Amino acid sequence: MITYKSEDEIKLMKQSAMLVSETLAEVAKILKPGLTTLQIDNLCDQFVKDHKAIPSFKNYHGYPYSICASVNDVVVHGFPNSIPLKEGDIVSIDLGVILNGWHGDHAYTFILGEINAELLQLVRVTKESLYKGIEKAIVNNRIGDISFAIQEHTEKKYGYGVVRELVGHGLGKNLHEDPQVPNYGKRGYGPKLRENLVLAIEPMINLGTRDVYTEKDGWTIKTKDGKPSVHFEHDVCVKKDKPLILSDFSIIEAAEKANSNLNTNYYSN
Ligand code: MF3
Ligand code: CO
Repeated sequence: MITYKSEDEIKLMKQSAMLVSETLAEVAKILKPGLTTLQIDNLCDQFVKDHKAIPSFKNYHGYPYSICASVNDVVVHGFPNSIPLKEGDIVSIDLGVILNGWHGDHAYTFILGEINAELLQLVRVTKESLYKGIEKAIVNNRIGDISFAIQEHTEKKYGYGVVRELVGHGLGKNLHEDPQVPNYGKRGYGPKLRENLVLAIEPMINLGTRDVYTEKDGWTIKTKDGKPSVHFEHDVCVKKDKPLILSDFSIIEAAEKANSNLNTNYYSN
């Protein structure tokens, strides 16, 4: 069942999404080689609780942490661990919160130090594809228009692998609501978009094959060919003329640019 939010509810969801963005901006400030993803998990957990919210992933179907930390060939749902991050890693930090009963859920991929041009392009194009999808989140379009736009910009244009097994989703009082938002699909197909539907749009794009597998822990999703994967996610409200993005990358990007341990070279490419 698809639910549409009232204007007041959208305001509350904006606050939830912004708390996630603010938390990810904190991560962007302190990220550096040597730090572990468990330390990042602790920081996020505390920051969310200090802001009167609840980390939503913890205990969701038994998920054991507050964030997903997906490094290199981990696509999504990586467990935070005590392995120090190193120069050349890319790491997606995905965080969900419940604030005043409303969910925020978004993700950002950070680059530690130097990476090759091929991988830098994957990061840039995956982020671009998210915005290509978001552009289509307007009234009277269909979910397939979002899906198609993402697939076109990644698979068709660059030959990247678009993960099929995991999808974006509706967001609201629940973390996963209808409809599903695949990152591949057909223009003009799928549920019609109506005003104040809130979607978590989240391309998961692989440098190599689209095929993935789940680790023995039951959660960690990895690429089959061991090549890297990138993940960006925004919370977006469907509107008539222009989608309303509830989360905010600009504060994360500002912190990222100010942190010399992080690579933002692809911004100008
Ligand atoms: N952003 C992811 C999603 O929407 C994260 C969920 S992790 C889980 O599916 F542990 F909560 F499942
Ligand atoms: Co999500």
